Amino acid sequence: MVQLSTSVYLLGGLLGLLLSPVRVAPTSASMCTPLKTLNDSLSHRRRYMKHNFPIDYTIRVHQKEVFKLSNINRMRLQVEGLDELILQRLWFQVNQGVLKKIIRVMPERHPSRPYATELERRFRDVEGVFVQSHPAELLQQELPETIQETWDHLTEESDRVPESSWRLASPKSLLDNFCHTMHCLFSECFASTEAQQDCKYNRGNPQVTLGRL
Ligand SMILES: *[C@@H]1O[C@H](CO)[C@@H](O)[C@H](O)[C@H]1NC(C)=O
Repeated sequence: MVQLSTSVYLLGGLLGLLLSPVRVAPTSASMCTPLKTLNDSLSHRRRYMKHNFPIDYTIRVHQKEVFKLSNINRMRLQVEGLDELILQRLWFQVNQGVLKKIIRVMPERHPSRPYATELERRFRDVEGVFVQSHPAELLQQELPETIQETWDHLTEESDRVPESSWRLASPKSLLDNFCHTMHCLFSECFASTEAQQDCKYNRGNPQVTLGRL
């Protein structure tokens, strides 16, 4: 009897441990400065990425490059205890490709080209600080299987990508996704009103996620 209650007690303790919110390392404060600079650039996206393009203009991107809040939320549900850092790495990988594709379609003298190249430069600045502020082994940690699959698709040579994996998206919509997911994944640097509604039940807190299942 004593033994039983002891194991119940232990089990209870273990469950408590499993259910307690996972502590997520806060975005290092040093990232907030370059992120806010990038955010400033992104606030002009309508002007440069919509008005200077023909109506309904789209570019071809990989389906995994259409990376929205819903994709992030799905991954969080699929992979238990998914580390924010992994999603942040994925965000960099996705948007590096997105920016490259946007810039590639713009002729040298396109009126929005200086804007796009500055955006890319600011993105690189954020990435530089990101890499510097985390130990290398943390940035190289193995990815969960489903995330690795996405990653492999993103880094595929474009002539190997099957036709069915391409999507057409407007430059503005791609930058909208870029911006919203940034507010979500680096929420410590942005006021909570910016971190989109759909992103509010996250922060790697399994209790909240479980409550939604
Ligand atoms: C981010 O940009 C938006 C405009 O798109 C602005 O309202 C907001 O204050 C900016 N946030 C920060 C933290 O700089």
